[in-house]
Amino acid sequence: MRQSRSGAPDRQGGRARFPLEFLILPEISTNKRRLVILISGRGSNMRALAEACRNEGWPADVAAVIASRPDAGGLEWAAHQGIPTAALYHKDYASREAFDAALASEIDRYEPDYVILAGFMRVLTPGFVNHYAGRLVNIHPSLLPAFPGLHTHAQALATGVRVHGCTVHFVTPVLDHGPIIAQGCVPVLAGDTPEALADRVLAVEHRAFPAAVRWLAEGRVTLTSDHRVNVEGDPERLFTWSPAA
Ligand code: GRF
Repeated sequence: MRQSRSGAPDRQGGRARFPLEFLILPEISTNKRRLVILISGRGSNMRALAEACRNEGWPADVAAVIASRPDAGGLEWAAHQGIPTAALYHKDYASREAFDAALASEIDRYEPDYVILAGFMRVLTPGFVNHYAGRLVNIHPSLLPAFPGLHTHAQALATGVRVHGCTVHFVTPVLDHGPIIAQGCVPVLAGDTPEALADRVLAVEHRAFPAAVRWLAEGRVTLTSDHRVNVEGDPERLFTWSPAA
């Protein structure tokens, strides 16, 4: 997921602070949480979330899957599961703001408790992000704060890091930035290509993301006063890859 680069973090004592509104998580209903999942492509993370939600009996429902393009492969799978789907194509809108406004109205039809960005490859306006403050969650394919933006696997290989991975985080108006809920790590192996590394990271994404969204669905996630995530019960929030996984 990519976000606007505007809304620079407020730096105090050399440390980035999150915008104030992200200190307070919204009141979430005590009924089943309603999840709206946004995708742009094949939707393997969406599928991992929807399957875990159903198979593990989360106190949540996937209320809708909404794509940023009509040819997103994941839409067909979701529709086949009986999940309401929609697609908005950015080329049908005059501006980024108009697209985001239409997207927000489509999302809000489903009255979501959480909006989950699962491979949603659109730059989001600060207005959109603020509308869902504390309810907008993203997965990014790197160990943030390393490698925000695109081409994270190529960036990892070019840099020579020995460990890479993914991060599930609350979204703020700052690009690929926000309180971290969970991370998954994988080794960088000799001879890796960006594609091989992406496959390894994806396997751990499919474990870290459902775990993190389940904690949200269970109402266990809060923010501490220093803007870090606390999960009730203190579960392991680092997921590690193994060849057998
Ligand atoms: C994932 O690697 C995700 O982290 C990134 O885009 C990819 C989407 O894959 N933002 P999928 O559509 O979930 O299969």
